[in-house]
Amino acid sequence: MEAICKVAVVGGSGNLGQPITAALLKAAFQVTIITRAKSTTAHPSEVAVVRTRYDLPNLTRAFTSQDAVVCVVGLTGVAMQNTFIDAAEAAGVRRFIIDDFGWGPGMRNLPELDAIFAERLDCRDYAQAKAAANTTFTWTGIAFGSPIDRVLRWFPAMGFDVPSRKAIIHDDGTEPFTDQFVKIVPIKTCQRELLEAFLGAFEDEWEVQKSSAGTHVGDGREKVAGGDGSGARDITLAHIFDPD
Ligand SMILES: NC(=O)c1ccc[n+]([C@@H]2O[C@H](COP(=O)([O-])OP(=O)(O)OC[C@H]3O[C@@H](n4cnc5c(N)ncnc54)[C@H](OP(=O)(O)O)[C@@H]3O)[C@@H](O)[C@H]2O)c1
Repeated sequence: MEAICKVAVVGGSGNLGQPITAALLKAAFQVTIITRAKSTTAHPSEVAVVRTRYDLPNLTRAFTSQDAVVCVVGLTGVAMQNTFIDAAEAAGVRRFIIDDFGWGPGMRNLPELDAIFAERLDCRDYAQAKAAANTTFTWTGIAFGSPIDRVLRWFPAMGFDVPSRKAIIHDDGTEPFTDQFVKIVPIKTCQRELLEAFLGAFEDEWEVQKSSAGTHVGDGREKVAGGDGSGARDITLAHIFDPD
C-alpha cells in the first residue's frame, strides 16, 4: 500500500480530536479538519478546514483526495458513522479509523453502557463488511481504555484530588485501566501504582479513603432514575474499576 500522507479528521475540534490532530501534524501528515456546516468550534490556524453538511454527496466531496479519515466525532455523532464510511469508500479513501477510542469489542460492560457499545459495534461491522467487499478500503479501530490524564482531570471520583492531597482507592486499587483492540498501551497502571507515584512526588501527607467501585453502580442508577445525568459518571466509574 502506498504511504498515507493526507489525513482528514472529522471532529478534530473535540477532546480527543485536538490531540489527535496535533499528533498527526507533528508526524508531518497533511491534515484537514472536517467540521459541520453550522459548527462554531475553533481550529488551529495552520490546519486546512472543510466546513460541510454531513450528507453523503458533501462528505464524499470533502474526503476526495484524502488517503485516510479519522472519525473522532462526539458521542451523538457516532450514529451517523456509517455515512462517513460510505463517503470515505466512495471518495477512494484507503484507511478509515473508526470512532471507537474506548475499550474495543469484547469488553465486559454494565447494561447502561450497552447502547453506546452496540452503536460502535454496528459501525465496526459496517466497516468490516465494506473492507471484505472492497480490498482498496481498509479500517482500523483504536482502543486505549481510559486515558489516565483525562480520567484524573474529569473525575475526582476516579481517586485523586491532587490540590487537596486526597485519594480514594476503589476496592484493592489494582484494577488496571487501559486496554484492547488495536491495543494502545502507552501506560498500563492501577490506582495503587498511581498513589505510590503521588506519594513519592509530594512531600505532604495524603488522606486516603477506601471505597468499593461496585457501590457506584447503585448510586449511579438511582441518580439517573431521578433525572440526574451525573449518575452516568458513577456507572462509568464502576465500569472502569469494578474488578467483578
Ligand atoms: N476512552 C475514553 O475514556 C474516552 C474519553 C473521551 C472520548 N472518548 C471517545 O472519543 C470519541 C470522541 O469523543 P470526544 O469527547 O473527543 O468528542 P467531543 O469533544 O464531544 O466532540 C468532538 C467533535 O465532534 C463533532 N460533533 C459533535 N457532535 C456531533 C454530531 N452530533 N454529529 C457530528 N459531529 C459532531 C464536533 O466537531 P465540529 O463542531 O467541529 O463538527 C465536536 O467538536 C467518542 O467516540 C468518545 O466516546 C473516549
